[in-house]
Amino acid sequence: MKIVAIMGSARSRGNTDLLLDSAIAGAKDAGAEVEKVVLHELNMDFCDGCYSCARASYCVKHPTVNGILEKIRAADGIIMASPAWWFSVSSHVKTLIDHWICFCDPATWESRIPGKKVGLISVAAMPKTEGVAEKVIAYMASVCEWLGMSVVARMPVYGMNLRGEVINHPDLMRGANQLGQRVALACKNGAAQSSPFPVGRSQ
Ligand SMILES: Cc1cc2nc3c(=O)[nH]c(=O)nc-3n(C[C@H](O)[C@H](O)[C@H](O)COP(=O)(O)O)c2cc1C
Repeated sequence: MKIVAIMGSARSRGNTDLLLDSAIAGAKDAGAEVEKVVLHELNMDFCDGCYSCARASYCVKHPTVNGILEKIRAADGIIMASPAWWFSVSSHVKTLIDHWICFCDPATWESRIPGKKVGLISVAAMPKTEGVAEKVIAYMASVCEWLGMSVVARMPVYGMNLRGEVINHPDLMRGANQLGQRVALACKNGAAQSSPFPVGRSQ
């Protein structure tokens, strides 16, 4: 089983990156083959909204995005991690998601990539009372579920701001590892349940 791990932060070795690496380790321990994609290294162009992909099912205008789209298409599962940027996903994650218009027929909205198992991570600096990481995850989940994928694990994390400070929270690193395991096992067993497990730190 193949999983694509999508690193949506602009900061390498930041909180999103470290949590994602822990999730990747968990998925590998559970037997998955995992490929990590670092979005800020891809120099993706914005979606032009030209709908040329409606027929082609790949991006006709910006061939550089087709590599990541192909990896997602070929995968059984996705682990997507984004920092909270102004109450939403990072620009990198939004730019990728916009290109997912390639994954559906825009006339019927029928998905070309149903059935994949998904784990979602979001890291916010604000306290849990603001609920930002949950909102970011809810956004990513709504897109994945619209495309017929099953969100099997969600991990909102709060109160993290300095680069890599999450490493000082072994409970969170372990939680991310368990998220990775859960996605891998869901790919293997076909589980489709969605749950708030594991829960991030409150502040
Ligand atoms: C452009 C930008 C916007 C941000 N907006 C929010 C926000 O709306 N809510 C929040 O809790 N944190 C916000 N943050 C803080 C990041 O979510 C936080 O620093 C997080 O740990 C970054 O993850 P990283 O280390 O993976 O880059 C913002 C950071 C940046 C750079």
